[in-house]
Amino acid sequence: MVAPTFHRARMGSDVLIPCTFTIDKPSVDIWQLALSWRFQESKVLGFDNNISSTHPRASINTARIKYGDVSLYIPNAMISDGGIYKCLIIYSTERQNKEIRLDIEAPPQITITKRLVVTNRQSVLRAAITGFYPVDINVKWFKDGETTEPLTNYTVSTPQRNPDGTYSVTSMVTIMPTEEDKHRSFSCRVQHESLSEPLREDFHLIYGAFPSAEITSSAFYLNKEQELICHVWGFYPESITVNWFLNSSLVDSTKTRWINSSALEAVYKFTPTEKNQGLELSCEVEHDTLSHPLVRKLLVEGKVPSVFVQHNLTMVSVSLWWPLPIVTRPLQLSLCDPGEVLCSLNLESFYPKHIDISWSCDTGQSQKGISSQEKYQENPDQSYNAESACKIPGDSLKDPEFKVIVRWKHETMEDWESKELRVRDPDMSPLIVQLNQQATVKCTVSGYFPDVLTVTWFMKNARQETIPVSNGSKYEIPEISQEKMSDNTYTCTSTLCFTPTSNSEEQEFICRISHPSLEEPIERSTGPATTKVTEPIKFSLCESGEVLCSLYVSKFNPPNINITWTSGRDQTNKIKAVEKFIKIGDEKTHDAISECTIKWDQSLFPLHVTWKHEAMEEPEYKELEITDFPWIPAVGEISVPALLAGSECTMTCDINNYFPDNNLTVTWLKKEKEGHEITPVSSNEYYQIPDLQHVKQQDHTYSCTAHLDFKPSYESDYGAEFICRVEHPNLKGAIERRTEPLQVTGDDVPLSHTPYL
Ligand SMILES: *[C@@H]1O[C@H](CO)[C@@H](O)[C@H](O)[C@H]1NC(C)=O
Ligand SMILES: *[C@@H]1O[C@H](CO)[C@@H](O)[C@H](O)[C@H]1NC(C)=O
Repeated sequence: MVAPTFHRARMGSDVLIPCTFTIDKPSVDIWQLALSWRFQESKVLGFDNNISSTHPRASINTARIKYGDVSLYIPNAMISDGGIYKCLIIYSTERQNKEIRLDIEAPPQITITKRLVVTNRQSVLRAAITGFYPVDINVKWFKDGETTEPLTNYTVSTPQRNPDGTYSVTSMVTIMPTEEDKHRSFSCRVQHESLSEPLREDFHLIYGAFPSAEITSSAFYLNKEQELICHVWGFYPESITVNWFLNSSLVDSTKTRWINSSALEAVYKFTPTEKNQGLELSCEVEHDTLSHPLVRKLLVEGKVPSVFVQHNLTMVSVSLWWPLPIVTRPLQLSLCDPGEVLCSLNLESFYPKHIDISWSCDTGQSQKGISSQEKYQENPDQSYNAESACKIPGDSLKDPEFKVIVRWKHETMEDWESKELRVRDPDMSPLIVQLNQQATVKCTVSGYFPDVLTVTWFMKNARQETIPVSNGSKYEIPEISQEKMSDNTYTCTSTLCFTPTSNSEEQEFICRISHPSLEEPIERSTGPATTKVTEPIKFSLCESGEVLCSLYVSKFNPPNINITWTSGRDQTNKIKAVEKFIKIGDEKTHDAISECTIKWDQSLFPLHVTWKHEAMEEPEYKELEITDFPWIPAVGEISVPALLAGSECTMTCDINNYFPDNNLTVTWLKKEKEGHEITPVSSNEYYQIPDLQHVKQQDHTYSCTAHLDFKPSYESDYGAEFICRVEHPNLKGAIERRTEPLQVTGDDVPLSHTPYL
């Protein structure tokens, strides 16, 4: 029996797996022969006088059996036909078999699936290597014929099994194509065991061009159909897909208009409604030169919806999309080269990119354009910002007639807008007036150039007359000093000081600024809102013995004022107070009284009252110590009767108008004749000091009379002085009253000491 161990065949070919035998005594007696072909252990064909086959294609040539040839014939070999075949022959009593391995091979094919590149852009070339078997394969890429080294920057995918059992891979190589590469040939080469020599596919690059895209849309009107156009141009090759999306869902009504082979417009007919606020419209372009689609977006953003009426249309239309360009920094000035001024204008968030900006200067007689330079910047939301700058000679700004004007117009704007070089508006401090205290009004101006600024002051009186105010005896207006800032503009503060009196007329101050950049002077006023504490805090005593504190605030507007009372060192205790508003006169200003009632107690002090009005920069307050209470004891002179030695007499001292009563102390003191020593007098057998009797007066204050009873003697009292000392918490110190040196008459008094009677 003869059969090879291996047999090879190409996929799709007709295979004859050889198997022959010889016998000692030919010819073959068919009746003694039995034959069996097995494939992977299962029977595919048998012969026992008759052919029996379980394989749809396998057969043997029965006519050749008698020559000992039982080769198995399989037409159109498939990968699945590869494997171990067994040929088994039984002749008479003999039995023999052979195993044959059938290898099916399939040679690869190369298809270049991508050779579109863009000059000087990293591009990928791709080849599909398909239909090979077995799996092992070797792929290489070459540039410019055989002589060069293979390209290194390539990948081969993992093999994919095809339904027919063969394999496919994809290989990609990344290159940076140059202009010269247009004339070179590239090659993909594959080695495989089915091939006697490598397979190669030579090709030339195709040079493509990226598409550019831009959305154009003019003003949009509510509920009116209009066209949104996505322009796409400059691409090669022609095959391209352009789609519109609304909030990432595809619009199927997009119409494509070809302009020429490398430009088209994708048109979407759109009727905007109120609901479209926040909608994102995008145009997506897919092209072979792009690895990701090119996207252009419009956002329906009603940030600054401007309402305007269109000609011939009765309806009011709302422009929904891109807000008008926002002027972020109106006009910037900076000094650059000596004597040159750089003017710049910043505009933000506009779309589309085109915007017209023009600068000119006006000298009064003539207008002249100034050349400027624009810098554009694209924002992440695809809107644009622009900065326009120009230079002018600095000295020209000192001419009051000279003006710099910048104008700009964007298609979202109805009309040109313009700005002129201006000083920044002055700030003005509110006018807060306290009688007999110096009041200061400030006017600050900043951001101007050049430093030729004039500030004039005016005052308005109660009759609403405006009167100029100048530096003099009543008002103090120091020269302004103009300070150069880091942006080379100037800042200055003009101050006005005066001391209001109770018959002051000032109701309002006006600060007027003149500058060459201003067509007309600008003014700022303190406003009529002035806060005045006309009267000090008042205290009165109630019947109950409590103290009513009141604060009177006048002439403020608007009528809200905040007045709080607190007590104690740390001001933590708020005292309940009542506010009463009083409208007066012209009703443009208001007065208020805040009142609170307190029980007299030393721990309440200091007492605080704070008032704050919106016209005041800072709250004001008054701190009240116990000594600020008005009920200070009034102490009369000591009344001394005629003193007769040895007879009872009384010295008295009247004390009035004090409150409260319980802390009043009276001490009697005595200064001995010719001595310097002063000693307190205490009650003893010689002096009697009765307790004080406080008597409440009609005005709820107290009064009392202090007594000192004694029997004078020449020895002890002649020439002595008595002192009545009164102490009270409302007093800063003690009050003392003193007698003259006492005269004492009587028998034992030497004549020389007896006054002339
Ligand atoms: C195609 O049209 C675009 C847009 O109108 C134009 O810029 C371009 O030059 C045209 N190209 C050709 C090849 O005519
Ligand atoms: C689109 O999406 C935005 C943001 O999520 C949303 O505010 C808006 O309502 C959506 N518009 C429509 C029409 O779906």
